[in-house]
Amino acid sequence: MKVLGIETSCDDTGVAIYDGQQGLLSHVLYSQLDPAVYGGVVPELASRDHLRKITPLVEACRQQANVSLSDLDAIAYTAGPGLIGALLVGAVFGRSLAYALEIPSLAVHHMEAHLLAPLLESPAPEFPFLALLVSGGHSMFVDVRGLGEYQILGETLDDAVGEAFDKTAKLLGLEYPGGPKLAKLALAGNPKAFHFPRPMIQRPDLALSFSGLKTHVLTVWEKSDKSDQTRADIALAFQSAVVETLTIKADRALEQTGLSRLVIAGGVGANLALRESLKQLMERRQGQLFFPRLEFCTDNGAMVAFCGYQHLSRGKRDGKEFFVKPRWDLSERD
Ligand code: KG4
Ligand code: ZN
Repeated sequence: MKVLGIETSCDDTGVAIYDGQQGLLSHVLYSQLDPAVYGGVVPELASRDHLRKITPLVEACRQQANVSLSDLDAIAYTAGPGLIGALLVGAVFGRSLAYALEIPSLAVHHMEAHLLAPLLESPAPEFPFLALLVSGGHSMFVDVRGLGEYQILGETLDDAVGEAFDKTAKLLGLEYPGGPKLAKLALAGNPKAFHFPRPMIQRPDLALSFSGLKTHVLTVWEKSDKSDQTRADIALAFQSAVVETLTIKADRALEQTGLSRLVIAGGVGANLALRESLKQLMERRQGQLFFPRLEFCTDNGAMVAFCGYQHLSRGKRDGKEFFVKPRWDLSERD
């Protein structure tokens, strides 16, 4: 079964073809350049860019995989959560193409696709596992018992981790999306310069919150000399606070659930300091850590094609209607 996957939930247009026997055949991605110019994602511009790119990207993906449209067995598209106009482009395109080709289609939950992305790697994690999903819009610990069996154990009460990275980066004068740029800047930081609070670690639950840390960074920044070295020191102190908080909470989640496999996914999963810290945690706990290759941490079409394949191959498909859900809880994905 060959599944075309389409991702247009935010500002990346991702297209991929996944084959049940041969695995991932091809994947292409177009990352919009506008965010750096506008200081963030402008929904209307993102939708227009998706519209411009989707057809040439599907064509490029098809050629790379050396398959014709008539070889496709199904189409999976991201239906939410995300920006409504951006989602509509992928949904209308995907559903219409499926209609024209007379093949089934399936609406995919963006966070479920992130969560399953590590299964594209080898070795793939076996169920059950604990997932730490950290992206620009969501941050959560999920108890994953099997495909479609997701229990959210704790979520952020305010900013998502990626959002906290982006806002702190902006304060330090870095362009959107600032997460990866802040991580790079932190490499030059002096670990002894600042120590920032680790939010929520006193609470026994698995909730996260980053607004207090953000305020703390702002206060320190305003009082500082704003030199290049101070910027790097603040970047490092911020990253260390986030990484240690997530590591402590991940440890707690593993303890509470008795799980021995940890999966990290979502854009912030590309952060090397976080990966290293979680690697050490899993060594200490004698468990296993899994994560997607760097390019599949951030938004991409491969995870959507893969997630769609998993459900489609088990007989799930939508009717002829299409739908998008800008707000869509992971636990209500069915
Ligand atoms: O999963 P993703 O591509 O989009 C959403 O679904 O939100 O995540 C994007 C987020 C952005 O906030 C970006 O700054 C952050 O992931 N990010 C990083 C790194 N790479 C991407 N944050 C910290 N360190 C990184 N290396
Ligand atoms: Zn995402």
